[in-house]
Amino acid sequence: MDKTIILAVETSCDETAVAIVKDGKEVLADVVASQISTHQKFGGVVPEVASRKHLELINIIIEEALNKANLKIPDLTHFAVTYGPGLVGALLVGVATTKAMSFAAEKPLIGVHHIEGHVYANFLTHSDIEFPVVCLIVSGGHTTLIKILEHGKYEFLGQTRDDAAGEAFDKISRALGLGYPGGPKIELKAKEGNPKAVNLPRAWLEEGSYDFSFSGLKSAVLNYLNQCEMKNIPINKADIAASFQEAVVEVLVEKTVGAAVKEKVKTILLAGGVAANSVLRTRLSLRAEEKGFRLVYPPMKYCTDNAAMIGAAAHYKVLRGEFAGLNLNAVPNLKFSDYTSG
Ligand code: KG4
Ligand code: ZN
Repeated sequence: MDKTIILAVETSCDETAVAIVKDGKEVLADVVASQISTHQKFGGVVPEVASRKHLELINIIIEEALNKANLKIPDLTHFAVTYGPGLVGALLVGVATTKAMSFAAEKPLIGVHHIEGHVYANFLTHSDIEFPVVCLIVSGGHTTLIKILEHGKYEFLGQTRDDAAGEAFDKISRALGLGYPGGPKIELKAKEGNPKAVNLPRAWLEEGSYDFSFSGLKSAVLNYLNQCEMKNIPINKADIAASFQEAVVEVLVEKTVGAAVKEKVKTILLAGGVAANSVLRTRLSLRAEEKGFRLVYPPMKYCTDNAAMIGAAAHYKVLRGEFAGLNLNAVPNLKFSDYTSG
């Protein structure tokens, strides 16, 4: 089937999101109810609270998406849902609801890996991407470099050995008292700071490695803050934020461009919540242009969690005939490599 109108659901973390996507690219509705204000007072996502909120919101958000698209359930061709990785209780709300819709409407079900969704956010707005490509996925839970050979065929080039890039942003933001979620707060603060003010380490790892490590950088910032406190030196949050952001971006950009050169691809994709970072977007654009690569990244609203990206990924799964049964379950620690190998 070429023509699809997919209702997609994403509830893996703190966003209750429903979208209706036509043919993997036309977004007929895209509703995202963020729980940020609920979790802000706790300084991070509280899993139990997240599941309850999803449960309260999911039916309302589905109705809203259908109304926005001016469609009724029988108009849809498929139902798609993120089934991992993520918070188990949060995922279960999306999985159970979507299975119920698929069963009641007698329309096929598609289970999508959250990270494949992030990758496919790029295909929502760029239908002319030519394979093979190298894709950097940077989110709160992942920092992964992959090569995409064709739709659904992935080769793993490297990944973080400890913290994900987004996780590092969140932890440093908390240490600086800037709040949650950390990425946008650090980015904003860094605008007033000097990225060369504080000397911080870059973990390049072994020659030719496309793995990442951010725990050394995180410790270096925490040590620097402790030292300042012990010596009674006033800290400049803007300078620390800018220097930290610089260290993360430099490693992400160089490793990604290095991988693209080695793999002899023509195009680089950027995906995940950290792809919303404008310093990363600008710096990677410049380096890609210097080296003759085309860089593609999603519009801001499709970088962080949303359901349109799940609908896009699901469209290509339909074309490959990859459907889920009604026994689909939430898999909180679903590995991308396990998902793609079967
Ligand atoms: O993809 P996402 O919405 O959820 C996960 O799949 O994890 O990514 C969330 C992560 C958070 O760690 C957040 O701090 C980070 O993306 N993030 C950013 C920015 N916006 C969100 N990091 C750096 N700069 C940003 N502007
Ligand atoms: Zn995400």
